[in-house]
Amino acid sequence: MSAVSESQKFDITDINLAQKGHARIEWAEREMPVLRLIRERFAVEKPLDGVRLVACAHVTTETANLVRALQAAGAETVLIASNPLSTQDDVAASLVADYGVSVYAIKGESTDTYNRHVRTALDSKPNLIIDDGSDVVATVLKERQHQIADLIGSTEETTTGIVRLRAMESAGVLKFPAIAVNDAQTKHFFDNRYGTGQSTIDGIIRATNILLAGRNFVVVGYGWCGKGIALRARGMGANVIVAEIDPVKAIEAVMDGFRVMQMNEAAKIGDVFVTVTGNRHVIDSQHFAAMKDSAIVCNSGHFDLEINLDSLREISGEPLNVRPFVQEYKVKDTGSRIIVLGEGRLINLAAAEGHPASVMDMSFANQALSAEYLVKNKGKLTAGVHLLPKEVDQEIAHLKLHSLGIQIDRLTAEQIEYMTSWETGT
Ligand code: ADE
Repeated sequence: MSAVSESQKFDITDINLAQKGHARIEWAEREMPVLRLIRERFAVEKPLDGVRLVACAHVTTETANLVRALQAAGAETVLIASNPLSTQDDVAASLVADYGVSVYAIKGESTDTYNRHVRTALDSKPNLIIDDGSDVVATVLKERQHQIADLIGSTEETTTGIVRLRAMESAGVLKFPAIAVNDAQTKHFFDNRYGTGQSTIDGIIRATNILLAGRNFVVVGYGWCGKGIALRARGMGANVIVAEIDPVKAIEAVMDGFRVMQMNEAAKIGDVFVTVTGNRHVIDSQHFAAMKDSAIVCNSGHFDLEINLDSLREISGEPLNVRPFVQEYKVKDTGSRIIVLGEGRLINLAAAEGHPASVMDMSFANQALSAEYLVKNKGKLTAGVHLLPKEVDQEIAHLKLHSLGIQIDRLTAEQIEYMTSWETGT
């Protein structure tokens, strides 16, 4: 039965998808025990009572469970998509119909609609922003500086968003505290590595149904996401090649057992390419020109600028839609075909369902606790980028271990004393 109220505003694909979305949200919840515990505590303590909150996130079953925790805490939440292609329309419908949330998110929305949704959400005059990629915060700083006075702070989910926040901080324009959720260990060690690792392979396979065994699989960027993708592609029997600009990460890739080479070389031999650098045009015209016929190209970084699709269109014309999330470009000069997945947007969320709930459990525990931390410390934190305190990270890890039924040892008093003294040596 629909709980939509007269005053509730939303812009979604189809409210009739709510029942399917509801069942999937509950399915994800089974894998999110840490977030469930937080929600149960929030329901009693109401740490976000009266707070107006805008969450900009991939609208997935896992995000729905984060929103449930925020609502239980007393926040009035507006949810918008953090990417035009990542929304799960059934989840958006259920959040509106079953949980009374104002959702503005439509799978496949245009960039204009995406931007309109950001502005509509900001019209709710938020006190807190949960951002994924920093588009909402950037819009406040560029167009709505008068709303800064309403803001207690913001939280940021992803590496790309934190790079942007630090640039804002350096430029002296970030006028409120922003918690770098991505930098918590219980976030990036697991979400970026195992979450992106699994969901990217999932997206490629769902889109194409190709066999990975024996293919030359090029991972462009060896940060936490690249590490996870390389690890999982190897697990599927692919020959993994890494391209990287950071010399330390490149050595890591070598010693992790991967071939490392420049993109110009990798372009000639790759069968599948995945970009996860957070940077612009890491696959560009010279690479397309060198690629084998039917090379598959996709991206799992936050923004759709890693693959230079404009340059590909210039040498090949408009693409053919081969199957959902699969477009074929035919290079005019050579006749070779380049297959682009998910229009160069995050393939793990465009063609699959994003990271599994079990890792998002920790990421979103960090988000929920960051929101609480900002409100508890209202007026006490300086403007700029902050980490969530280490104890919170440790607490999330303890809760996760507990939920997995795993006990670990604790330091003895003698060991604590040893670790905090310097006299004892050889
Ligand atoms: N980012 C990556 N995977 C996600 C998921 N399942 N939900 C929300 N954000 C995500």
